[in-house]
Amino acid sequence: MIEIRAVTKSYDGRPALDDLTLSVAAGEALAVLGASGSGKSTLLNLVAGLDRPTGGTVTVAGTRVDDLSETALARYRRARVGMVFQFFNLLDDLTVLDNVLLPAQLSRTPRRAARDRAEELLGKLGVLRHARAFPGRLSGGERQRVAVARALMNRPPLLLADEPTGALDTASAADVRDLLAELNAEGQTMLLVTHDTALAAACATRTIELADGRVTRMVTR
Ligand SMILES: Nc1ncnc2c1ncn2[C@@H]1O[C@H](COP(=O)(O)OP(=O)(O)OP(=O)(O)O)[C@@H](O)[C@H]1O
Ligand SMILES: [Mg+2]
Repeated sequence: MIEIRAVTKSYDGRPALDDLTLSVAAGEALAVLGASGSGKSTLLNLVAGLDRPTGGTVTVAGTRVDDLSETALARYRRARVGMVFQFFNLLDDLTVLDNVLLPAQLSRTPRRAARDRAEELLGKLGVLRHARAFPGRLSGGERQRVAVARALMNRPPLLLADEPTGALDTASAADVRDLLAELNAEGQTMLLVTHDTALAAACATRTIELADGRVTRMVTR
């Protein structure tokens, strides 16, 4: 699903990722651990097509992401990857339902099918009763579950998450851990960047640790 070959990403001549080679198979949940500044978000951004490597290649589900035009990248991000962030990134003046519908609208999914899918996801994630509410009314854990629903809306082959439990209280973090573990058990491939070793333990099939943009440890469950 993900093939990273000899990837370097430098900022002002300093490598944030240093000759990194890594692959993730379909169905895997890879957790990326590492100290602040070790290159975790940089790695995620390259896979998400939010940034380009200085050298090397990034291939996701057969597509060379580092090579795509801006238009093709926008389509790639819409169709191939779902993203979950530490601070949810929900739009506060749209309802929960409309937030979840957004990716479907961008990819022109018929309205009825999109609504059915959104309600199914909100139900599965336990937040359907908040469908008409605005995100500001929800708890952190509820907001993150809405963000996961939005990320899954277009059935992306790859789910990416950057510190998905980083802003949550203990109980909500446990909910989100369970949810991600369940999604992976159902076959969802994912790449999780986190400081949360409990998250890695709960749902990663493999864990790597980065230091200075290099893999220093790899543990397979
Ligand atoms: N846009 C940028 N411009 C300049 N330097 C950057 C940029 N993005 C990241 N860096 C640098 O690259 C290195 C890796 O950053 P990155 O954000 O990937 O770390 P991280 O492992 O995600 O850290 P954290 O755990 O704090 O989120 C850091 O030294 C950072 O300062
Ligand atoms: Mg980061």
